[in-house]
Amino acid sequence: MSLITLANLEKSIPSGNGRLWILRDITLDIAEGEFVTVMGPSGAGKSTLLGILGMLDHEWTGEYRLVGEAVHTLKPKQRIALNKRHIGFVFQQYHLLDDLTVYENLDIPLSYRDVPKREREGIVADVLDRFGIVAKKDLYPAQLSGGQQQLVGVARAVVANPKLILADEPTGSLHSEQARRIMELFRELNQGGTTIIQVTHSEECASYGHRIIQLFDGWLRQP
Ligand SMILES: Nc1ncnc2c1ncn2[C@@H]1O[C@H](COP(=O)(O)OP(=O)(O)O)[C@@H](O)[C@H]1O
Ligand SMILES: [Mg+2]
Repeated sequence: MSLITLANLEKSIPSGNGRLWILRDITLDIAEGEFVTVMGPSGAGKSTLLGILGMLDHEWTGEYRLVGEAVHTLKPKQRIALNKRHIGFVFQQYHLLDDLTVYENLDIPLSYRDVPKREREGIVADVLDRFGIVAKKDLYPAQLSGGQQQLVGVARAVVANPKLILADEPTGSLHSEQARRIMELFRELNQGGTTIIQVTHSEECASYGHRIIQLFDGWLRQP
């Protein structure tokens, strides 16, 4: 069953007298349970594509269906609701909230989803345990290594149990050992049924996925 269907998805921005094309005619189907890697040179449109999939970017044309919902027909508010229900995002630079503890960073996505406090405590405790970061729960991001911050980044992405994880170069700032840890986690989550779409330049990271999608100058190339 399709989780994501894109048809003729395009993005361009005004430039001089014409338009600068960032994504061209993207038609793509991603099934529930897939682990997909997006690769391609810098500037190819990978982050733009992930931003659109993650509903962080609304300036595009074409069709995007997520779990059967026609995203292209939804208003921003409805898109945000869909995003909250189904998507977790992992960023290269972690994007944790610096003045909140690890525990508080993990609690935030649940509070946005109106999960009662009692229930949240149980869920956060469980995620801290699964990710091996119980001892870090009262520390602030700046007190953690990059690898530990990204563990928290992934934990935050999955705490509300999304169907889809979008990860834009999640290991781009990590040492190879830390990167492997993140990939092992992705593999486990994927085996548990979570669909994953990651951007990476690393062949090793790509080898954890099932399928590679190549972008060049905004055009898709599927083997
Ligand atoms: N808001 C924007 N304004 C101008 N140019 C943009 C904008 N967003 C992306 N681009 C351009 O679109 C292209 C694709 O960017 P990006 O998706 O970040 O590529 P990648 O992640 O593959 O390196 C780049 O040439 C980038 O400069
Ligand atoms: Mg990018």
